[in-house]
Amino acid sequence: MMMTQHMNKFPAQSIQWLIGLLYGMSWAGLLQAEAAETVPLDEIYHDYCSVCHGDRGDGRSRAMGSMQPPPADFTRPGAALELTRERMLVSIREGRPGTAMTAWKTQLSDTQIEAVTDFIRERFMLPVAGEEGSEGARLYAENCSVCHGDQGRTAVWAENNMQPAPRDFTAELAASELTRERMVRSVTFGRPDTAMAGFRDQLAPAQIEAVVDYIRTAFMGQGADSSMVEAAPVRIDMELPFTSGLVGDPVRGQAFYLQNCVACHGERGDGQGPRAYFILPKPRDFTLEASRATLNRPVLYEAIAKGRRGAEMPAWETVLDAQTMTDIAEYVFQTFIRLQKAGS
Ligand code: HEC
Ligand code: HEC
Ligand code: HEC
Repeated sequence: MMMTQHMNKFPAQSIQWLIGLLYGMSWAGLLQAEAAETVPLDEIYHDYCSVCHGDRGDGRSRAMGSMQPPPADFTRPGAALELTRERMLVSIREGRPGTAMTAWKTQLSDTQIEAVTDFIRERFMLPVAGEEGSEGARLYAENCSVCHGDQGRTAVWAENNMQPAPRDFTAELAASELTRERMVRSVTFGRPDTAMAGFRDQLAPAQIEAVVDYIRTAFMGQGADSSMVEAAPVRIDMELPFTSGLVGDPVRGQAFYLQNCVACHGERGDGQGPRAYFILPKPRDFTLEASRATLNRPVLYEAIAKGRRGAEMPAWETVLDAQTMTDIAEYVFQTFIRLQKAGS
């Protein structure tokens, strides 16, 4: 209803905005004229945001292809977990430096920013296990934190009194060892001869899955459906060449990595780039054992090309050709997985 009406009056405006974007003109001028204090909330979204984020909030707009990073897709799995209400308010108010997401605080009042945030959350975002206040978080607080700690780091009293001590979910070992399946099994049936009792009499199967997904997203830095973790303990052939038969040029790859990947994955490949702080799940740390044991050339290529569902890892195949992605994969492989200097 509302939506179609607004779609119709959009094209002219989007082109205006895009021109402003492309030529670096100040948007404030373009927009201020139109910003009235009393716009209803869905109109704020449709007037100011949908040109980039799309009418359905999925980031599929005409403008999408011209932006790197692309506009956020509010409908992707995990979006509500990663984009907390607080973070959205800050991002909308202050913008996201170095991206097309500009600050809106001069065009929109705080009330309008809150209204459009709630509109996006209610209209577009899937509720996620692991979101603050979710069932998983509540179940964890009630049943698990006493031993595993509020922050997923073993509670001190339990560490001193139990042999073996409760799992520290934030440890590297947990991320590489605990698949979702294994966790569900351990929580259901317990671990023989340890203080970890089975919860099958207290919790329904869906509740067990909810608390496991909460632990994975909140403490282990894994998307609830991250496949990396399932693959981690399996040994794979690290010598395989690229599936396409292409050969990568790590020097070209390095130049590209420094421009496009460092912000998240860091110069040292340790996942500590300047943007990493704001991102959940965290950008992959290429220097971990688990990465070194699994990220061979085909896997790297695939990850770069397809991106990661439910994470901020873009699908680069929409903007790069196969040779460029091969070059980047080769650089990552030689430098962080193999620890050689680029080109050697
Ligand atoms: C010119 C295009 C454009 C417009 C218009 C725009 N955005 Fe964005 N937005 C982006 C891009 C690009 C990103 C991704 C930024 C990033 O990855 O850091 C983004 C990201 C976001 C995010 C996620 C930020 C985060 O913390 O990761 C939110 C929330 C958001 N936009 C809300 C809005 C709202 C609300 C409006 C309207 C008032 C709006 N955007 C208008 C391009 C736009
Ligand atoms: C009384 C203390 C205690 C409580 C309460 C507790 N745990 Fe544990 N948990 C442990 C101990 C001890 C271990 C280590 C067992 C081992 O090393 O095999 C453990 C291990 C685990 C593991 C790893 C199992 C594996 O396969 O290695 C998971 C997952 C886990 N707990 C989840 C939970 C969840 C979810 C809850 C709440 C529903 C919970 N725990 C409540 C003590 C506890
Ligand atoms: C906006 C942040 C961001 C940027 C930019 C980014 N990544 Fe990522 N990347 C991530 C996140 C987040 C993950 C972890 C996803 C997960 O845990 O499932 C990831 C995961 C990966 C993985 C591992 C995938 C797997 O199977 O676990 C590879 C390889 C990778 N990125 C390579 C790159 C390369 C190369 C670039 C530059 C061309 C790049 N990334 C740019 C955020 C980013």
